[in-house]
Amino acid sequence: MTSSRTVSLSGRDAYDAAREFYIWPRVSRADVEAGFPLIFQEGKGVHLRDVDGNEYIDLMSSSTRASALGYADERMVSAISSQLLALHYAGTGSQAAARTVELAQRLAALTPGNLTATVFTGSGSEANEAAIKLAKLYQRERGKPRAYKLISRWQDYHGSLGGAQEASDWLGVRAPSEPGPPGFSRIPAPTCDRCAFGLEFPSCNLRCADFLADHIEHEDPDLISAFLVEPVPQANGVQIPPPGYLRRVLEICRRYEVLFIADEVITGFGRTGKWFGVQHWEIEPDIMTVAKAVTAGYLPLAATIVRDDIRDALQLFPDIHTFGGHPASAVAALTALSIYERDGLVDRANELGVELLSGLQRLSDLPIVVDVRALGLWAAVEFGTGPDRRPLTQEALRAIVLRARSRGVLVSQNARSIELAPPLVITSEELVDGVARFEQAVREVCAEGSY
Ligand SMILES: Cc1ncc(COP(=O)(O)O)c(C=O)c1O
Repeated sequence: MTSSRTVSLSGRDAYDAAREFYIWPRVSRADVEAGFPLIFQEGKGVHLRDVDGNEYIDLMSSSTRASALGYADERMVSAISSQLLALHYAGTGSQAAARTVELAQRLAALTPGNLTATVFTGSGSEANEAAIKLAKLYQRERGKPRAYKLISRWQDYHGSLGGAQEASDWLGVRAPSEPGPPGFSRIPAPTCDRCAFGLEFPSCNLRCADFLADHIEHEDPDLISAFLVEPVPQANGVQIPPPGYLRRVLEICRRYEVLFIADEVITGFGRTGKWFGVQHWEIEPDIMTVAKAVTAGYLPLAATIVRDDIRDALQLFPDIHTFGGHPASAVAALTALSIYERDGLVDRANELGVELLSGLQRLSDLPIVVDVRALGLWAAVEFGTGPDRRPLTQEALRAIVLRARSRGVLVSQNARSIELAPPLVITSEELVDGVARFEQAVREVCAEGSY
């Protein structure tokens, strides 16, 4: 990285200002006081520099997994600035920029099945909110006029507003707003290592999937509009569903005329080694939501893409976001999608994912490592201790994250696991270096017994 081009708060001043003027989302006051949050000054490629001048390899794509193209990609910056000069904003509702419409067309070509028409918003939460509203409107027009309920799953996450938040069961976002909007219920997720039904795969015959049918019957099929899922849940780190699970729940949705909404906010655009997570199981959702990597984090944009007959059923979609489909964000997305495609980054995520997984598997000899898993360039190392492998405390996982930082790599703790989601542009050398530093951090903490 070259020296700082921007002049802004640096060092302690930045942290002092944050303490006084900034609310850290989901960071406790105690963690702020302990100096856990980081403030960055600049980035290049997969490298970040904080306001104290410390440099890191970012193995989490800006913690949200959005920065799939790394930092300061000139192609992104120049496309966005050209668009800002050509047409910085075109309004909303009955006005749109041509590039925004072009992005809708591009998403129709890229997404699986009959997903053809897009509503643009600014965040994954809003995209899921739009999906929930679209599902209800569709049901109202096509046969199930009373269908106002939505089913989601334990420990899935869909956002921090309204229905998306109420459908969520992760990160504790729901609690402060409860009681939330009516009509939301959740069923157990396919967490085979801790099966809610006390069964084992495969002899369970996917009881957790069949339970969706029981739950729909219980709630009244006429009242259910949609089932919302993360194809690969983020909770506890990269929870890959058992074979057959998603197909079975899709079949149940079809049987009860319940729309299947795939929340691809994390899994979209190559993270798992396919363009979309559902493609690992050849699933064609009725509605798909995307955000994050759609613009590689260069600007905010989210999209809700629906089957053509859902679009056709709508006389009007009463939903409006001032900055939904902002032209500069649309160009960021069009440029990111071209880069993913031209540079073969989805296939690369697969290839590098193999390296990532095998590098992390070196840790399997440690008594505190319970599981190492990955799908594409998205991995989790799950930790536990004692004969019953009970999860490490959050403090112990925090110690690993902090030690990794001190070795120059950024990773995230995710309940029972440490998660890694490097930018898709990471080179093999950077990945090997980053994983080695992480391995060193884990081995040190394990050797010290500080868990
Ligand atoms: C799977 C999933 N859905 C929805 C969201 C919400 O997206 P946003 O934070 O952009 O509102 C997130 C955010 O992390 C997510 O991981």
